[in-house]
Amino acid sequence: MNYYKVENLEQYFKMYNKSVREPRKFWERIADENFTWYQRWDKVLEYDMSKAEIQWFVNGKLNITKNCIDRHLNKRGDKTAIIFEPNDPKEKAQHITYNELHQRVCKMANVLREQGVKKGDRVCIYLPMIPELAVSLLACARIGAIHSVVFAGFSATALNSRIVDCDAKFVITADGSYRGNKSIDLKGIVDEALEKAPMVQTVLVAKRTNTDVPMKEGRDKWLQPLLDSASSNNVAEIMDSENPLFILYTSGSTGKPKGMVHTTGGYMVYTAYTFKNVFRYEENDIYWCTADIGWITGHSYIVYGPLLNGATTVMFEGIPNYPDFGRFWEIVEKHKITQFYTAPTAIRSLAKESTEWVEKHDLSSLKVIGSVGEPINEEAWHWYNNHIGQKRCPITDTWWQTETGGVMIAPLPFVTPTKPTYATFPLPGVQAVLMDEKRNEIEDNQVVGSLCIKFPWPGIARTIWGDHQRYIDTYFSAFPGKYFTGDGALRDEVGYYRITGRVDDVVIVSGHNLGTAPIEDAINEHPAVAESAIVGFPHDIKGNALYGFITLKETGLTRDQNNLRNEINQHISTHIGPIAKLDKIQFVAGLPKTRSGKIMRRILRKIAEGDFSNFGDTSTLLNPEIVDLIKDDRIE
Ligand code: WT7
Repeated sequence: MNYYKVENLEQYFKMYNKSVREPRKFWERIADENFTWYQRWDKVLEYDMSKAEIQWFVNGKLNITKNCIDRHLNKRGDKTAIIFEPNDPKEKAQHITYNELHQRVCKMANVLREQGVKKGDRVCIYLPMIPELAVSLLACARIGAIHSVVFAGFSATALNSRIVDCDAKFVITADGSYRGNKSIDLKGIVDEALEKAPMVQTVLVAKRTNTDVPMKEGRDKWLQPLLDSASSNNVAEIMDSENPLFILYTSGSTGKPKGMVHTTGGYMVYTAYTFKNVFRYEENDIYWCTADIGWITGHSYIVYGPLLNGATTVMFEGIPNYPDFGRFWEIVEKHKITQFYTAPTAIRSLAKESTEWVEKHDLSSLKVIGSVGEPINEEAWHWYNNHIGQKRCPITDTWWQTETGGVMIAPLPFVTPTKPTYATFPLPGVQAVLMDEKRNEIEDNQVVGSLCIKFPWPGIARTIWGDHQRYIDTYFSAFPGKYFTGDGALRDEVGYYRITGRVDDVVIVSGHNLGTAPIEDAINEHPAVAESAIVGFPHDIKGNALYGFITLKETGLTRDQNNLRNEINQHISTHIGPIAKLDKIQFVAGLPKTRSGKIMRRILRKIAEGDFSNFGDTSTLLNPEIVDLIKDDRIE
């Protein structure tokens, strides 16, 4: 049996059982048979869940880019590694072969070294979805620098805090970016972010929009001339399995973003294995994930997972509705996409348009379609299945997180029968469990509980940058000995999982994980605001939208309320980004609080949803009378 490839359901069960009985042997064989290592590991796994200390392939030596690129060159040098599809459909797509990618990554790696980047240094990458983005990640990995990609839709403040948190001395950005018919002044945002980031020595600027941007003497350098004069010979750094590969920030339940740290060996093995099986990837497939590389989905399933398998991966710079609602399907037809991977929010927004946009295009190349980022509702699932998959292509509803590195629960196409809204079975190696309120493992099926994982897998994040205690507190404390995901889930009679949503103060808006605390922090900085509480409520397109309950200081009471609403949203835009804007803002006389001063979000959530049926016990409230007042002024 080839452990790397699950062929049918019987094999899945066999491998799953093997992976639980002998996890070390299971992963060791996959690591042994499918990758190039400079030196084999001494021990497969070393761990202590109570201290959140996890090491895979201990003392193994490797370079992930050797595995992503160099080892394919003999067999697949002329094969396309990356297809770049620009924002503007009139601009020509680029096909970058493995040979070309090798050259470009080596040159970029040499540029970084010349600029003084050393193994272990953090490099912040703030780029649009252009080939330089993938090349930058790989160039960092080649020389052992730790990349920290910040999604180029984030504001200057958000970028600043991410640069400062990991003390990045280098930034890679572009003059500007395109998004539909708009262009964005990326360099301007970087300049603003760097006003309070004195550690940054060098900013490398790629050209995309060819706009005239100010270049700060001694700090800012155009990337292209440096690349032109760089050598394309580069010796990859020898990395330890547990050397950090990257940091990626995710929001949490306190204001400060969490820099999740992923390391080299385990992440490589896990993303490669999951890519192969979750998308049932075969040689010559053309795979497209619509995410941005600024999120973990793009790291694992645009760059690393596909390249590790020698695949052709598409990078799309644009948006689903530009120049029209047929863009996704036009691209599927144009590049003969075989695997298509997107988010429920995109599916819902396209499903509300006429199906003519779909029918105009030939989607017969598709074999597998995927979903990620939030629960996919039944209606969206059927639309996706009927119109895009045309009932031929299995939908793989993939549940995972920034912290998990790769997919954890998902149907394996042509192996696991699908069921609408269910992520189905955990992948081999993933020991999912449901926990009840008393912290006991739930043995029965057809029940809901807190979703935990009770054994390490190679892709798990190793720490939060600079704050290991926070890592322990957030993920390993609620259920001792287990990794707590923050999600609730239901398990059905056959053992399929259905993710029911977050059980903490995180709201998933259009597939973006937003902590309510950082948004509240941003709002509270507005001079007229006294206090605020944000909750999510169901939204047709976005999955969830944000509802803000806000109390004002004296100074705010006489202000025009709509102006104030706009100002508050503007404030959120500049502090976090436009994705975190509130759909509804209700100014209230007070917030319902417990006697210990904790805001009762449970009640606010019910009000936001328009469900007044059962507020539960309000007798412990300090100010129960406020509930009726808030309810009466609820915004429809
Ligand atoms: C949270 C993680 C993993 C890449 C994108 C998001 C939610 C993710 C699903 C799914 C139901 C899902 C969970 C999870 N989520 N995929 N298929 N079904 N919920 O990464 O930003 O770290 O967010 O997204 O709530 O905890 P992230």
